[in-house]
Amino acid sequence: MRLGILISGRGSNFEAIANAISRRKLDAEIAIVICNRPNAGGLDFARERGIPMRVIESRGMEREAYDKLVIDELRTHEVDLVCLAGFMRLLSASFVHAFPNRVLNIHPSLLPAFPGLDAQRQALEYGVRITGCTVHVVDEFLDSGPILVQSAVPVLDTDTVETLSARILAQEHAIYPKAIQLMVERRITLQGRRAMIREDEVD
Ligand code: GAR
Repeated sequence: MRLGILISGRGSNFEAIANAISRRKLDAEIAIVICNRPNAGGLDFARERGIPMRVIESRGMEREAYDKLVIDELRTHEVDLVCLAGFMRLLSASFVHAFPNRVLNIHPSLLPAFPGLDAQRQALEYGVRITGCTVHVVDEFLDSGPILVQSAVPVLDTDTVETLSARILAQEHAIYPKAIQLMVERRITLQGRRAMIREDEVD
């Protein structure tokens, strides 16, 4: 399966995906990394590893026009599955329709709690005892598509946004490659909002 990874910043989830591929935990290939910000940290990692990448700056561009550029680039690289990895832009309906049920996102909360920006801060300020992260299929609304995999993380009394975010991030790095591998193995069937996951076959 050929992956197109969209990033905006640090790119640690992108790294986790690339590392899972190197360790043969994920049977896929990164066809292209697209970044909407020219100075994003994740670009250095792509350069170091020789992973094909392209900066398509989004600043000042209309959503539909921007998304069309990204769709074209993904199609040029024959991408089968698009993985948003800290890509901080809402996608248009045309983008979602260009890759139906083929766009995944990772979000740092147990959705549907705390969608949008600063999910870890939202969780801390709300006072939940448990938060976590979610891999979901992207639809045209914010952080709202069918949920594939979640991981729970307890909130400690001593937590700051930074410490909580770091523990959630470790779980993100674990579940994102796993969720992608489930797609690779075609073990996920969507029934409305519900993702049915076929158990591993035992020989
Ligand atoms: C991650 O925590 C990811 O879940 C979050 O941005 C961070 C990106 O980190 N995404 C969102 O909040 C999307 N709504 P990374 O660039 O190191 O992967």
